[in-house]
Amino acid sequence: MGRCCFYTVGTLSLLLLVTSVTLLVARVFQKAVEQTIQKNIVLKNGTETFDYWETPPLPVYTQFYFFNVTNPEEILKGETPHVTEVGPYTYRELRDKENIQFGSNGTTVSAVSNKAYVFERNLSIGDPKIDLIRTLNIPVVSAMEWSQKHFLRSLIVVIMKAYQQKLFVIHTVHELLWGYKDELLSLISVFKPNISPYFGLFYGKNGTNDGDYVFLTGEDNYRNFSKIVEWNGKKSLDWWGTESCNMINGTDGDSFHPLITKDEILYVFPSDFCRSVYITFSGFENIQGLPALKYKLPAEILANTSENAGFCLPEGNCLGSGVLNVSICKNGAPIILSAPHFYQADEKFLSAIAGMHPNKDHHETFVDINPLTGIILRAAKRFQINVYVRKLDEFVETGNIQTLVFPVMYLNESVLIDKETADRLKAALNTTVIVTNIPYIIMALGVFFGLIFIGLVCRGQGSMDEGTPDERAPLIRT
Ligand SMILES: *[C@@H]1O[C@H](CO)[C@@H](O)[C@H](O)[C@H]1NC(C)=O
Ligand SMILES: *[C@@H]1O[C@H](CO)[C@@H](O)[C@H](O)[C@H]1NC(C)=O
Ligand SMILES: *[C@@H]1O[C@H](CO)[C@@H](O)[C@H](O)[C@H]1NC(C)=O
Ligand SMILES: *[C@@H]1O[C@H](CO)[C@@H](O)[C@H](O)[C@H]1NC(C)=O
Ligand SMILES: *[C@@H]1O[C@H](CO)[C@@H](O)[C@H](O)[C@H]1NC(C)=O
Ligand SMILES: *[C@@H]1O[C@H](CO)[C@@H](O)[C@H](O)[C@H]1NC(C)=O
Ligand SMILES: *[C@@H]1O[C@H](CO)[C@@H](O)[C@H](O)[C@H]1NC(C)=O
Ligand SMILES: *[C@@H]1O[C@H](CO)[C@@H](O)[C@H](O)[C@H]1NC(C)=O
Ligand SMILES: *[C@@H]1O[C@H](CO)[C@@H](O)[C@H](O)[C@H]1NC(C)=O
Ligand SMILES: *[C@@H]1O[C@H](CO)[C@@H](O)[C@H](O)[C@H]1NC(C)=O
Repeated sequence: MGRCCFYTVGTLSLLLLVTSVTLLVARVFQKAVEQTIQKNIVLKNGTETFDYWETPPLPVYTQFYFFNVTNPEEILKGETPHVTEVGPYTYRELRDKENIQFGSNGTTVSAVSNKAYVFERNLSIGDPKIDLIRTLNIPVVSAMEWSQKHFLRSLIVVIMKAYQQKLFVIHTVHELLWGYKDELLSLISVFKPNISPYFGLFYGKNGTNDGDYVFLTGEDNYRNFSKIVEWNGKKSLDWWGTESCNMINGTDGDSFHPLITKDEILYVFPSDFCRSVYITFSGFENIQGLPALKYKLPAEILANTSENAGFCLPEGNCLGSGVLNVSICKNGAPIILSAPHFYQADEKFLSAIAGMHPNKDHHETFVDINPLTGIILRAAKRFQINVYVRKLDEFVETGNIQTLVFPVMYLNESVLIDKETADRLKAALNTTVIVTNIPYIIMALGVFFGLIFIGLVCRGQGSMDEGTPDERAPLIRT
């Protein structure tokens, strides 16, 4: 034993330590894990990623909040509108992808995303078919704006003269969302069949899709995973003022590429927002025991800056920070989008309406993403639909109303990973944690043998110290 064992332990310890440091420096296991993830998170028929993408398993809820107008007569006299928030009216979304077709070399896939909405009584304050909301008469305001653009001008003026319309109307929540037959639109549609006699903020959106998409599968590069390359046959939009404003960037927001780092900016094209946006890192989170990066929609997206000048139509006609005029992609209806309660918008929009209470926690848009897999663990997309309304001399209906960006409704489309899915994901991620920790295990073994080695060295020295006086003793005695 003795000497041979002594050297073996020492060499072994040194070898293990050198190996572990080499593995750590070269990031061998880290890279192996990353490569495995890059290979597996690809839209390919038969993979779990594909199934998850085709039929998203997590429950998504959309909650609608309406602004009930309490002083319509006073508003027509030019006073500040008073509104009270009413909601939530909660709908569960049923989502799936259809018409899935892979490109010839597997790098692209085309599909449509269907969405249906099922009312959830238990998560709502009332019955949408009974509850009444008083709000702006959006078909009338839209028709008046069309006439200003000389679209159907004489027809609208004649009809409005003959059939006095009110600027404020009362409808049920269900009608306002899913559509009702409007008197004015019905008359117009007799002459212009391409105009629907129905109006609703989500009219025609139940059980339908928002257009044909072509995505990248991530086969060529993991960072291209589920990136949109075409929407409705076009590679970019054509309604905004500049080329960069018209770009279709990033994913549809339902999935992100894996291996996300916090320095990245993530692009998203939410078609209901009529433009691409980006989200930026804002902190670390832990959702159901899973690590996440929190990404938020920054205030710069809707700020009055030179980068956003292309979104101000007609050119140079910026309304201010925090609002987006989407009239151009809503058939000319004067729709203005903003964050709920004009969160992060100019003070002038807030103070023009009584009843606005912007709040960071409740009104911001955010996504919590697991950085390794790119899977969304929690998210809330929130925006408000407003109507631009002003006094028009040829229409007595507008009375003496101020020029307003008038809030009608806001929504919160949210998702939270359930415990079961979180546990499954955790189990899968644990394997990668073990694999990436192999160098540390080797290092620990090296340290262990190193300690044995040091112990042996010390014992060796100790026995020498004990031995010397023993050997000397007889000498002294003699
Ligand atoms: C995926 O594969 C299955 C069976 O192999 C097939 O029935 C299905 O049509 C394929 N889907 C697509 C989108 O290619
Ligand atoms: C796959 O096809 C697309 C066009 O359909 C092409 O742009 C791309 O370069 C091709 N990729 C490979 C790896 O062949
Ligand atoms: C949407 O369509 C689904 C299925 O067709 C139906 O069950 C649901 O009630 C509809 N939702 C609304 C709000 O009409
Ligand atoms: C709604 O709540 C009631 C009572 O709290 C319960 O009996 C019912 O099953 C719930 N319905 C749904 C769809 O969750
Ligand atoms: C909204 O206001 C109208 C008119 O004041 C009222 O009749 C209605 O009950 C209100 N709606 C809700 C849900 O409170
Ligand atoms: C896919 O990723 C590569 C490498 O990042 C990039 O050069 C390429 O342009 C991407 N493809 C598309 C269509 O964006
Ligand atoms: C799209 O992305 C490019 C950079 O890739 C950026 O310059 C442009 O502003 C983005 N457009 C929008 C609308 O986000
Ligand atoms: C937007 O910014 C420009 C330049 O900074 C400024 O002149 C203009 O008044 C701003 N518009 C609004 C509505 O705040
Ligand atoms: C909103 O955009 C439309 C179409 O681009 C434009 O005609 C209208 O004047 C804009 N509205 C406001 C209030 O700037
Ligand atoms: C959605 O946001 C609203 C406020 O905007 C909030 O009251 C509600 O709790 C949120 N819902 C979920 C499920 O987070």
